[in-house]
Amino acid sequence: MTRSNNFPPGPSGHWLQGNLPEYRRGRLQFLERIRAEYGTIASYRLGSIPVVLVCEPQHLREILVTNNKSYGRSISTRMLSEFFGNGLLISEGERWLRDRRIIQPTFAKEHIEQFADCMVRRTSDCIELWNQGDRRDALLDMQSLTMSIAAETLLGVKLHEEVAAIHDPHEIIRGHFDYRMEHLWVTPRWIPTRHNRKVNAAYHAIRKIVDDLIAKRKNEHQSGTDILSRLIQIQRSQAHAMTDQQLRDQVLTFLFAGHETTASLLGWVWWLLGKFPDVANRLHDEIDDTLQGKRPTIADVPKLRYTDKVIRETLRLFPSAYVMGRQALEDTHLGEYDIPRGTNLVISPWLMQRDSRFWDHPLDFDPDRWTDSTQKTMDQFAWFPFGAGPRICIGKAFAMLESVLIVATIASRFNLVLPSNQAIEPHASVTIRPSPGVQVICHERTSFRKEFSPARLETTL
Ligand code: HEM
Repeated sequence: MTRSNNFPPGPSGHWLQGNLPEYRRGRLQFLERIRAEYGTIASYRLGSIPVVLVCEPQHLREILVTNNKSYGRSISTRMLSEFFGNGLLISEGERWLRDRRIIQPTFAKEHIEQFADCMVRRTSDCIELWNQGDRRDALLDMQSLTMSIAAETLLGVKLHEEVAAIHDPHEIIRGHFDYRMEHLWVTPRWIPTRHNRKVNAAYHAIRKIVDDLIAKRKNEHQSGTDILSRLIQIQRSQAHAMTDQQLRDQVLTFLFAGHETTASLLGWVWWLLGKFPDVANRLHDEIDDTLQGKRPTIADVPKLRYTDKVIRETLRLFPSAYVMGRQALEDTHLGEYDIPRGTNLVISPWLMQRDSRFWDHPLDFDPDRWTDSTQKTMDQFAWFPFGAGPRICIGKAFAMLESVLIVATIASRFNLVLPSNQAIEPHASVTIRPSPGVQVICHERTSFRKEFSPARLETTL
């Protein structure tokens, strides 16, 4: 099928660049305009690449769930393979199925629950460095914290100075992807321009850290139940089953997919709690009542229901993965429109989760909208920050548990207050981040002081 008259409607754009200039000025505003002006199936063009934006639940179900085999990874997802190689996020077909089956047991409920202790310990270590009145960038703190938790729980490696060493190269690579997404033509990486030299050095730095981690684990000869152990065992027992390159791809995938999304989410949580002190007060009350001054454990998680609502509501308004891409593998139809093979499709939790078809006052931050019946009655695609169907986020339960425990551990001790006049905007990059970060001022909470006061410590000594 070639592009027919029955292709979804959209703005014509520049003859060469299509709608790239507007997309580049602000991806979220651009998507909002296309949806508002052209409806729930609309098209636009990034250079010569036609893209269809799909916002109808029945079509999303078809693409992600019922007919998912007819849709592959999109051009933009495949672009990430420059960094993640053929890791779980990118791979397709038999290869993806095999890897997902190998890795899935690490994310079984009973297994994830064992990580709770590490999640709380690492968070306590992180806030140990915070003092009354300190001004901090909560987004940066959440990035380091979630990366060290992902490394320790999923890969069985403790990161120390590596976390800081990874930060700058990671930012360079993220900026490189933004640039690639927004430009028609980029100089091939082997041409030593200033930009390419910087990006290549960043790749090299991260690969070196990851290769050293893998080598260290291989030398330990200890087998565990983390992903890296499983993959090393397979590499040892089945010759040719997995190359060193494939092993590295998976480690990179879990190190980065496993922290960036959750860190962005938590950055938004601290910002929203700072903006809405009434919500923060209720959250603190729940945490104080539940924890009674102790550190949270896995047994407390089901009781932290308001905390869970705050996280769900934050993910509704600021879904870290604000778009997902697919490519039609065969000629098909969505509703009345023809979709030729090769068409790139964009699905946007950002648009769907702020849609008045599904939510009253969709732009209000209202954790109370999450009643017991909300999840039972809402459309599957009114809230799907972790995707849907066979390629649903493997780390969904991990991320929800980690977020509840991090928020409870920090909020039991600190009230994070926003300095006045802090202007923050959603920046749509690989994830949607609060930009330029979330400055907070740490206020120690008295309930914590009671628990950890010298008098109390004396009795325990
Ligand atoms: C708030 C946190 C997170 C959000 C919003 C999120 C979102 C998503 C989404 C939307 C997808 C599906 C993409 C698609 O269908 O194209 C996905 C896939 C994936 N996520 Fe997450 N994620 C989060 C946390 C995590 C964590 C903690 C991990 C690792 C522990 C992780 C690892 C992955 C992997 C490996 C995939 C690819 C799965 C596959 O294709 O089989 N994510 N994530």
